[in-house]
Amino acid sequence: MPHSHDVERFNRWAPGYDQHWMQRRIFAPVQRTVLELAQEQVARPGAIIDVGCGTGKLLALARDRFPDAKLVGVDAAIEMVRQAQASHLTEAIQFQQAMAEELPFPDVSFDLAFSTMTFHHWKDQNRGVAEIARVLTPGGRWLLAEFVATGFMKHVRKVLRLHQFPDRASLQAILSIRGLRVVAQKPVPGLRRQVTVFAIASAPA
Ligand SMILES: C[S@@+](CC[C@H](N)C(=O)[O-])C[C@H]1O[C@@H](n2cnc3c(N)ncnc32)[C@H](O)[C@@H]1O
Repeated sequence: MPHSHDVERFNRWAPGYDQHWMQRRIFAPVQRTVLELAQEQVARPGAIIDVGCGTGKLLALARDRFPDAKLVGVDAAIEMVRQAQASHLTEAIQFQQAMAEELPFPDVSFDLAFSTMTFHHWKDQNRGVAEIARVLTPGGRWLLAEFVATGFMKHVRKVLRLHQFPDRASLQAILSIRGLRVVAQKPVPGLRRQVTVFAIASAPA
């Protein structure tokens, strides 16, 4: 599917997104796992970005856990951004429209970056990874939650050419170009090991 159609689909989905059954079944456990792993990895982040933030739920939860951190959410779909702004009426979280592939922030700006269930939608995953690597601080972490093909699904991915869903080897290959590496990972409970949260370390300074 061309990327512009994908983003249009999210624009249409935005008003009902928070009511969808997947929130409880998939997105909420993903968010809990991301926050647990994030806290283990970076105890006191100064600034956090959520790339592909959707309606902003993860950042709202992050605010309770990291009350001193600056919180920024970006999403390609303007209606998701508007929904996030309307749902979380607080100056503590800044939401804006931006693409993962072109983050409008200076180098070395964030101690934590989150991306949950969005990576497989990115138009150019290599470019997005380069942008995350650029904005992370040394010692920072990218918490990536994604469907990762394992076992039988690895073969299905290959046959159906579902290359936007990474397997472990292809993810590692994209990361290593930018000096990033997986330092911890957790399967999301209740999702039959189909979704994994990776803690990815920024390149050394
Ligand atoms: C399935 S939703 C996940 C939203 C949120 N992270 C969550 O877990 O609920 C995928 C989101 O990625 C966004 N997205 C797709 N391509 C993007 C890109 N290239 N850059 C930034 N956001 C993108 C979509 O607009 C959508 O809001």
